[in-house]
Amino acid sequence: MSRIRPAAVIILAAGAGTRMKSATPKVLHSIAGRSLVGHALASAAAIEPQRVVVVVRHDRETVAEHITQIAPHVLLADQDEIPGTGRAAYCGLSALDATAVAAQVAAGAVGDTAVMETQAEGAVVVTSGDVPLVDGELLGALVDAHGAAGAAVTVLTATVDDPTGYGRIVRDAGTDEVLSIVEHKDATEEQRAITEINSGIYVFDAAVLRGALAQIGQDNAQGEMYLPDVIEIARREGGRTHAFIAPHAGDVEGVNDRVQLAQLGQELNARIVTRWMRDGVTVMDPATTWIDADVELAEDVTILPNTQLQGRTTVGTGTVVGPDTTLMDVTVGAGASVIRTHGSASVIDDGATVGPFSFLRPGTHLGASGRIGAFVETKNATIGEHTKVPHLSYVGDATIGHHTNVGAATIFVNYDGISKHHSTVGNHVRIGSDNSLIAPVEIGDGAYTGAGAVIRRDVPPGALGRNSSPQQVVEGWVGNRRPGSASALAAEEALRTHDDGLSEGARAERAAATEKTEGES
Ligand code: UD1
Ligand code: CA
Repeated sequence: MSRIRPAAVIILAAGAGTRMKSATPKVLHSIAGRSLVGHALASAAAIEPQRVVVVVRHDRETVAEHITQIAPHVLLADQDEIPGTGRAAYCGLSALDATAVAAQVAAGAVGDTAVMETQAEGAVVVTSGDVPLVDGELLGALVDAHGAAGAAVTVLTATVDDPTGYGRIVRDAGTDEVLSIVEHKDATEEQRAITEINSGIYVFDAAVLRGALAQIGQDNAQGEMYLPDVIEIARREGGRTHAFIAPHAGDVEGVNDRVQLAQLGQELNARIVTRWMRDGVTVMDPATTWIDADVELAEDVTILPNTQLQGRTTVGTGTVVGPDTTLMDVTVGAGASVIRTHGSASVIDDGATVGPFSFLRPGTHLGASGRIGAFVETKNATIGEHTKVPHLSYVGDATIGHHTNVGAATIFVNYDGISKHHSTVGNHVRIGSDNSLIAPVEIGDGAYTGAGAVIRRDVPPGALGRNSSPQQVVEGWVGNRRPGSASALAAEEALRTHDDGLSEGARAERAAATEKTEGES
């Protein structure tokens, strides 16, 4: 079936969404890393309409700002104070027609004929900002069905166990044709028994929609202009009114409260995870694996339990992620391993290993075959190929070359209490354990630093930076200062019964050191 290209998709998002009980507008709540209206926009884009318009009113500025950010080419239409989905659709269509006229005028055309021709023509899809499981495939199937039926209006319907609250599809008993849609609040007992419901998603012929919207009243239980009333009007005027039944009823469910938000979020996640498994990703525990809609995974990625891949995260082939890992906007190369890690806005190159218990903050770039190990936090740090930061360290605002090793418990001291400073470490450097590198400082290629060093001045290539003072040994200190303590008793016992294990030379050295210390104090 050749798909017709819709003239427009109108997304209705002017409603209040009061049942969310939230300071955030309903359509800005998200599942799978995308706002609800973001899902509607993605589905709309998938069927390649000529234009997309979103109708806004409630929380207008917040919603408009979000839409402009994620879909700058979308047209925003303001609904006025007249309530109802019919009015919302009217405002959307009017905005489309008005911009078409404006474009025509700008192009220099004048006169009524030219203006008439600029109005939207052909198929117009109307959908909601709160039905995130309605994807491009379903919208496309609806448009196809509309084209195949040669209909004036095609409504997407579903057959459900509990139709309470929905508009009911009233069909002709003989021909099965759709006669009208009756809202729950306006329906008779007999009509309420109908289990085929209106999804609130339609395809209209633009001219039919325009003509019918001009005739819709507010004479109903809610005093609103009902978009579904277009069906009865279209039919009265001789148009074909068709229904397309959604293959999976659950797909057309909307989000009205946070329970539905979680349920649809779980369902959407299950679909995303299933799709990746079919595309060659091993997911050990689908129930505890959360993958956002915009994540990209290569074949033969393995995801272990309790892992969340969020935002624009991508993972290369052969890489193992998890368990217990959250990555937001992280690019992971091939053949890498990321275990029990929390990372955001970072890059992990091929063959690198991260974790367990690593915290990668924004701006971390770990080079190929590099290592960020246990209890290491990084931020705005470039760590070169084959370079290792294996244990208990903080690397902030630093550039480290390749094949360098950073000893355990090293801190890049980047903050002087007022501003942050950057440090640079070269290639093939050996930073000793428990170093403090006071930024800004530079350590040249092939340099070493001693254990426990506090590096305040640059260390040139090949040099050793150290500043530790000789160790003091104060014989008998515990016995004198902590008499009778368990430590004192243990020491006493050891001195009485055991050889202290030192050579003659070492014992003489220790005695000399003790004398010196005592002399100093
Ligand atoms: C609507 C349908 C109903 C259908 C149901 C499916 C009408 C009259 N009824 O009912 O047949 O079964 O959807 O969920 O259309 N909106 C606006 N402006 C408004 C009112 C609503 O933009 O003035 C938007 C909302 O933001 C929402 C959509 O339209 O995205 C549907 O509105 P909602 O109030 O949820 O309609 P229902 O009463 O559920
Ligand atoms: Ca609704």
